[in-house]
Amino acid sequence: MREVVFIVDVSGQYAQVTARRIREREVYCEVVDLDKVKDSIALHRPVGIVLTGDDNCKELYTNGFRDYLIHADIPTLAIGAAAAAYEGLSYPFIISLAPASLMGEAAMDEVSAFLYETCGCIGEYTPADFANETIERLKEEIKDKKVICGLSGGVDSTVSAVMLHKAIGNNLTNIFVDNGLLRKDEGKNVIQMLKDSFDMNIIHVHAEDRFLEKLKGITVPAEKRMIIGALYIDIFREEAEKLGDINLLAQGTIYTDVLESGHDGAKSIKMHHNVGGLPKNLPFELVEPVRYLFKDEVRRVGVSLGLPEAFTKRQSFPGPGLGVRCLGELSKERLDVLRECDAIVREEIEKTNLPIERMQYFAVLPNLLSVGVEEGAGTYLETVAIRAIQSIDLMTADYVRIPYDVLDTISNRIISNIPQINRVVLDISPKPPSTIEWE
Ligand code: XMP
Repeated sequence: MREVVFIVDVSGQYAQVTARRIREREVYCEVVDLDKVKDSIALHRPVGIVLTGDDNCKELYTNGFRDYLIHADIPTLAIGAAAAAYEGLSYPFIISLAPASLMGEAAMDEVSAFLYETCGCIGEYTPADFANETIERLKEEIKDKKVICGLSGGVDSTVSAVMLHKAIGNNLTNIFVDNGLLRKDEGKNVIQMLKDSFDMNIIHVHAEDRFLEKLKGITVPAEKRMIIGALYIDIFREEAEKLGDINLLAQGTIYTDVLESGHDGAKSIKMHHNVGGLPKNLPFELVEPVRYLFKDEVRRVGVSLGLPEAFTKRQSFPGPGLGVRCLGELSKERLDVLRECDAIVREEIEKTNLPIERMQYFAVLPNLLSVGVEEGAGTYLETVAIRAIQSIDLMTADYVRIPYDVLDTISNRIISNIPQINRVVLDISPKPPSTIEWE
């Protein structure tokens, strides 16, 4: 029987973050619901249990699991409020860790000691194991059904598509949608990269005008996301109908998207279009092979699958694209201005030796007109903001200290080449309290 640690999700939103911390220590773990845990323990005999909870964890009592665990011979690590349920008892093995400190190294040493010393784990669970097991699972679950996959060429959807392709071969058709919200030359570059690297079916749908038409007059961020999400689904449905009777849609949703859309018990921070922006009556069943992984884990799975660095190191880009970086009403003209500014920001940052594989760097149009002067005459034009952050898992981020000479070059190039802009500003906000994107 394989070595497994169970994470029992009593309450709160720390179970998956904890799971990620355990996988990082190369130990296989599964998140189990409190109602099913006793049966699962009998079946899988976990070598250790981690309880996560962020309130009084009364469910542990009402469900009887607290007493069960006291008599079970399984080392247990209680994180957060779950620890209080065992106060004063010498067994099971309890450590009280504040959930917030899960990110800290000291806490991680305790988690490591728990896994390797207390539970006697052997470890050696790698991203390649994740990929192989996911491929096997997809094969078993999908069988000979056909699947379409929303493929943007970003690391999440590409890793998902490649695993699916290994599992079901030509029963997979990937759909790349050009929504008019892509970066400069992105559509043609991504299609070329995908064609050069993989032998998968890919359909390129040009829907630039349809997206911009639907987004006319819309300024509220959540509405933009809903409209973009709904139109994606319309397009996937149309393509699925053309291909025959397909009702499985694969997406590269990752856990940050799930968490930040308020699913799985978390508060809604903002709606990510590939989760929160889905219409209620979805005409598909979803296949989300990397749903429980964090960004850096997806990159490692991509490396283990042999994906070129052009994919595994590609910076994150939101599904709604420039739609959430062009504040206010979208128009082709404003998006073109943003595309040009963004290309300059990216080009100049890529010439530096900043750690771009951990960064996200782009331009934003905050929809802010300000007074300027040119050749003695007043102007009233748009502002562009430069945003560059550094993050491991996108849950928290710090702004990158871009050297002044690089900022100078960016600012000069923008101002002298893009007549619609008269002001360049720098965003120096960490997440939290900001988010990475402006909308
Ligand atoms: P925030 O702005 O929430 O972003 O700090 C965290 C990460 O998620 C990306 N992001 C999105 N990805 N659909 C996506 O697929 C979205 O609606 C969306 N909004 C943000 C963002 O670029 C960052 O990497």
